[in-house]
Amino acid sequence: MSFIKHEHEPRGNAIRHEVATYIGLGQNTYTPTQVAVAKAKGCHLWTVDGRKLVDFTSGVLVQNLGYRHPKFEKYWASYRNGLPVNAYNMVSHVFAKASKCLIKSMKTNPNAQKILWAASGSEGIQKAMWTALHRYPDRNIMVATRYGFHGKKGLAADVTGETSKNPDVRFISFPMEEEKEPEFYQEELDALHKAYPGKIALLITEPYLGAKGSFHPPVWYHQILQHWCNKHDIPFIFDEVQSCFGRTGNMYAYESYQVTPDLVVLGKGLANGEPAAAVVGRADLIDSLQYGEASDTYSASVPACAAVCAALDVFKEDRIVNSARKNALKLGKRLTDLAAEFSFIRDVRGEGMVYGVEIEDAITANRCVLEAYRATTRKGIHFLGPLAEKVLRVSPPLVITEEELEEAFSLLHKAWRRITGK
Ligand SMILES: Cc1ncc(COP(=O)(O)O)c(C=O)c1O
Repeated sequence: MSFIKHEHEPRGNAIRHEVATYIGLGQNTYTPTQVAVAKAKGCHLWTVDGRKLVDFTSGVLVQNLGYRHPKFEKYWASYRNGLPVNAYNMVSHVFAKASKCLIKSMKTNPNAQKILWAASGSEGIQKAMWTALHRYPDRNIMVATRYGFHGKKGLAADVTGETSKNPDVRFISFPMEEEKEPEFYQEELDALHKAYPGKIALLITEPYLGAKGSFHPPVWYHQILQHWCNKHDIPFIFDEVQSCFGRTGNMYAYESYQVTPDLVVLGKGLANGEPAAAVVGRADLIDSLQYGEASDTYSASVPACAAVCAALDVFKEDRIVNSARKNALKLGKRLTDLAAEFSFIRDVRGEGMVYGVEIEDAITANRCVLEAYRATTRKGIHFLGPLAEKVLRVSPPLVITEEELEEAFSLLHKAWRRITGK
């Protein structure tokens, strides 16, 4: 049976062999390293064969506070102290507190009034869309921005990508490499409204195209979408599953893009690793669902709500967003330096603490991931497998220190020189 093996990694190879034997390929996303992890702390991972890696992924933009953050762990334990793990048919003070505090943390958006919880990003997206469809039962058209990623399940999958099995989905353009004027997008929206008067139930978009390879639009783009939605009373849904909790240099990306969406969907970094997602938005939309219409077994579990409370406390007390902004300047500069040295880097795109490094082709991109992993015999950098075939995502924990960043980039320079043979 074929499986990923690395030289001098007997323990890791044994685990990868068992994984290949017992677990379906579909379970994991392809990463050429298939790191076999033994422990994690701060911004570092240790492999079972004793190698130390700087984590450039934050899980998958989940552990924004890094791994085993002492204050987060302490608060998390104290919030869930004594409570059951599952509170499906009960309510608890952490359920109420997480909801209240999360809404308060979004006070820059007056539409952040009520909440529905979910256990994954795609479920949160689906619940957000349900609220709009229930609020306006005579409307069926769902507008989505092209090449977005909202998840692999249900309605989230229907509005992902560029085509949909769902006959009610219509895609509109999202700025990528081409430079189009605002009028182009405005005309597209107006044509859509003309084609389906009174029939558009919602518009869903991402702050930036993450999975498609890091395309970050000009600020005016989302403002055009929101203005059009407001004008025609169409719920504007902002998918912040990936961008929430400090990634773009603000607590929420709607602040970076200066919009106030009707519904914001949060996930990933929201609970620093515990499965939690949430839809926060206009009360009239959220209240369009009745008892049980958005309930499920695992949403708003006690550990999830406790983790949200703990993460919010740490973000506030340690001014995480402020320090992330400082780190972001350093990260942007170091990535530009990297692009200046290596001609196989075609572009660097990003903001805050989330960047995409576009490599000239997929083979080189995979090699970059592997060489970074094996930077020296004992140390390396952990990347996800390339996105959109050849884009390396750079999204270290927000709490990475300046020294850790410096060390990571010096390892990267060393590792990637093996590709150019210099
Ligand atoms: C922007 C965005 N929306 C939705 C999702 C889906 O989240 P989940 O994998 O938790 O279902 C993701 C996951 O990568 C995402 O990045």
